Amino acid sequence: MPLARSLSVTSLSGLEEWDEEFDREDAVLFEIAWEVANKVGGIYTVIQTKARLTCEEWGENYFLVGPYMESSVRTQVELIEPCNATLRRTIDKMNSSGCKYAAQCDEPPHIVAHFHEWLAGLGLVLCRQRQLPVATIFTTHATLLGRYLCAGSVDFYNKLAEFNVDKEAGDRQIYHRYCLERAAARCAHVFTTVSQITAIEAEHLLKRKPDIVTPNGLNVKKFSAMHEFQNLHAQSKARIQEFVRGHFYGHLDFNLDKTVFLFIAGRYEFSNKGADIFLEALARLNYLLRVNHSEVTIIAFFIMPARTNNFNVETLKGQAVRKQLWDTAQTVKERFGKKLYESLLVGQLPDVSKMLDKEDFTMMKRAIFATQRQCLPPICTHNMLEDSSDPILNCIRRIGLFNSAQDRVKVIFHPEFLSSTSPLLPVDYEEFVRGCHLGVFPSYYEPWGYTPAECTVMGIPSVSTNLSGFGCFMEEHIADPSAYGIYILDRRYRGVDESCNQLTSFLFQFCQQSRRQRIIQRNRTERLSDLLDWRYLGRYYVSARHMALAKAFPDTYIYEPQEPTSATGFRYPRPASVPPSPAHSLHSSPHHSEAEDEEEPYDEDLEVEKDRVNIRQPFNLPNRNKNQTVGLPEKN
Ligand code: UDP
Ligand code: G6P
Ligand code: GLC
Repeated sequence: MPLARSLSVTSLSGLEEWDEEFDREDAVLFEIAWEVANKVGGIYTVIQTKARLTCEEWGENYFLVGPYMESSVRTQVELIEPCNATLRRTIDKMNSSGCKYAAQCDEPPHIVAHFHEWLAGLGLVLCRQRQLPVATIFTTHATLLGRYLCAGSVDFYNKLAEFNVDKEAGDRQIYHRYCLERAAARCAHVFTTVSQITAIEAEHLLKRKPDIVTPNGLNVKKFSAMHEFQNLHAQSKARIQEFVRGHFYGHLDFNLDKTVFLFIAGRYEFSNKGADIFLEALARLNYLLRVNHSEVTIIAFFIMPARTNNFNVETLKGQAVRKQLWDTAQTVKERFGKKLYESLLVGQLPDVSKMLDKEDFTMMKRAIFATQRQCLPPICTHNMLEDSSDPILNCIRRIGLFNSAQDRVKVIFHPEFLSSTSPLLPVDYEEFVRGCHLGVFPSYYEPWGYTPAECTVMGIPSVSTNLSGFGCFMEEHIADPSAYGIYILDRRYRGVDESCNQLTSFLFQFCQQSRRQRIIQRNRTERLSDLLDWRYLGRYYVSARHMALAKAFPDTYIYEPQEPTSATGFRYPRPASVPPSPAHSLHSSPHHSEAEDEEEPYDEDLEVEKDRVNIRQPFNLPNRNKNQTVGLPEKN
């Protein structure tokens, strides 16, 4: 019998976790998910962003398995012949025998098969039922029942321990899927999930406590110039402003330089994703800005895909009108320039009153005439198939945010994921996020929540909640999250109305920041990127694989759990300098103006404080009814 190999995760920041004795040549890793090269939501992001790191570790012994989608294969997959002899033999056998004998070969390597979410769970259950020599891992990114229960009006977090899971799944007609999910979770060698909050949920709803939490990371891009991401913000914002000019043509009675862009984005789960309380808070913010005679205008984007029948005419017309005005301005400018040039050629200063002739004026009048508009700028950019029952549109109808001139808060609903090839707003999602000022994700059900994490690594502040995996993770690792632009809404200990007030107050405070304060805050937000990098978070996946190998092949591998050390958790301290809140703002010069806001006035030497707070602190569940309005947050 070979000597048992010792596997342990030893370093916090590096990824040299495989013990030297571990020979990668005789092990193969498969990762199986419905979202491999198939974008649906955040699981795609997990797989796609983690791929580089996993490849660095496993090289050619790493395989991703997903559904064959012709369009995705054409755009995202490079077809190659397998270079691994074992795999080639396996594929040949699969081809000749209709997949029946996949993984059976002469000298099988040690196989780790990592299945994500219930859709891939069947493969895991079959591996175990057929007693294949495979180390299996199941990661759930949400529980089916949790998602369904939360989308209804159930007091989910207070009743977690009481649900009759079989009945609840049956009532919602998801019993078969639920059984598959539960079976996969129960029979995996190692069961993991993406956050502590979902670990507790899984324990109650799937009846197994996860062995390890594997938080989601990102591929953090580092720019050589420190402030490059700030320049990108300015460039992307200019593109969004251009779209806004077209969308609000004829109603551009607000100052675009004092306009703040907020957004919510993701799969369209109205209340789970918190679109309901965002809209309510926007209505309250509108009132506050109006009564305070604020000069700030808010444009709130809702990027959530719904069933549509393409862009609507009014929205397309907006961009056409804008383009026409631009072309007219260019033509007049050229004619003006030519006259000016001719005048200078003969040594004369031009007679400015004659620089524009009748033809120029006619052209300009015609262009202005085209900007006359009888209706208000549209809320929705597309023709909705279910317009009358759409929850966002119905809520907007109820709260009356119709993009009227008096409204300080304007709303744009783009019911399709963004794309750089769009004729309307030709930016991809990353560019859009960079151009906005604040992402707002007040989710009620959010096992992790990539959207605020993506904002963070791009240096864009965000709102998340203490019911989301991301929000809890950040709360655990940052002493004063809001100083870093990480606003964490309390949806655990407060009723809906109070959470809404808290969100309104976050938004109102944010609107009162000067440009300089926003710039400082973005710098701070961006400094948190390392915390979300796979180079740090990838170690939990490494641990899960070690654990699975040791459980499946105990004669060959031994898993040595990580000893808690001072390096297992750390917290970012409060920023050393003045917080960027309007109340505490100090201007360096008595003649301060918005133009001076461009400079970064504070020299913040931020140190990552390594303390003894373990990353896996016990997690407290909310103990308040989600519909109850309460005063002070109740601490357990
Ligand atoms: N997303 C996107 N295009 C958009 C809006 C969102 O690609 O226009 C992506 C976003 O980058 C994120 C994912 O959708 O990675 C949503 O993941 P999240 O974990 O926030 O939520 P999920 O949909 O998985 O519940
Ligand atoms: C970045 C750019 C600055 C620009 C600023 C606008 O910091 O480097 O040149 O003035 O963004 O910030 P704002 O928050 O007003 O969009
Ligand atoms: C799920 C969750 C989301 C999470 C994503 C990736 O779709 O809804 O919160 O970020 O999976 O783990």
